[in-house]
Amino acid sequence: MFTIKTMNAISPVGLAKLPKNLFEVDADTDTPDGILVRSADLLNTTFPENLLAIARAGAGVNNIPLDRCSEQGIVVFNTPGANANAVAELVMGMLIAGSRNVPAAAQWAQTLAGDPALSKSVEKGKKQFVGNEIQGKTLGVIGLGAIGSRVANRAIAMGMEVYGYDPYISIDAAWNLSSQVHHCVNLNDMLPLCDYLTIHVPYLPTTRGTINAQTLALCKDGVKVLNYARGELVNNEAILEALETGKVAAYMTDFPCEELLGKPGVLCTPHLGASTPEAEDNCAVMAAQELSDYLKNGNITHS
Ligand code: MLT
Repeated sequence: MFTIKTMNAISPVGLAKLPKNLFEVDADTDTPDGILVRSADLLNTTFPENLLAIARAGAGVNNIPLDRCSEQGIVVFNTPGANANAVAELVMGMLIAGSRNVPAAAQWAQTLAGDPALSKSVEKGKKQFVGNEIQGKTLGVIGLGAIGSRVANRAIAMGMEVYGYDPYISIDAAWNLSSQVHHCVNLNDMLPLCDYLTIHVPYLPTTRGTINAQTLALCKDGVKVLNYARGELVNNEAILEALETGKVAAYMTDFPCEELLGKPGVLCTPHLGASTPEAEDNCAVMAAQELSDYLKNGNITHS
């Protein structure tokens, strides 16, 4: 019998992949054989000696101390691609919402309740919140994995001209990428072409601050930047300065922080990328299967 500790609420659809005759799921155990985790921060957690594996129901593993796991012989799994559709759909939603001033306009419209001159106020709002169309605009995608490729394909379907750059993989290895995506070998060549820039790389020491004062200086004036990957990939100070000068027209991010909140041009959501029941089920199923396959058979997939 293997004991599995859940460190976050894990979808029951995933837990059902752990047969009860072989696995006992217990959120309170101190001696698990395996851990199932979503976003809980394990960086300072002491692991028991018998722990064999940790499975993250999500793509990023920056909440797990990988070096310490290697030293202790603990195998770490993640679920690449399992929530990619949810993230890509949010990115497309925010691309359009930010371009058409939807959040600000919707918030403003709420204040019209009880307005005796409602139709006049609506006319005023119609002028105040004029937006831009995305069809015919250029989008630069940094990172062409499961999420970046989906974003690129969806943007092409909506009539955008899409450029793609990946620091690690060749264009041929990109996930199901449309042949209409223009491949850029260097990031610096892509930046001046983009009306919109979106980043989809993992957070690693080498990708920290990929979008910074130098890279922003190469962008078009008025570029709109989207970050639904990790907050650390973008230097907030540089973004705020660029928003002030007009170099950046809008920053849409899933990673709110004190520096950004309430700043003009910043549109924050509370890490909603993978927050759909569909994505939670997909991630939990993949993570539970990886854990079960390793503990039962010693097989390693997606680690
Ligand atoms: C991921 O790394 O896949 C997401 O950040 C998962 C999450 O929202 O928990």
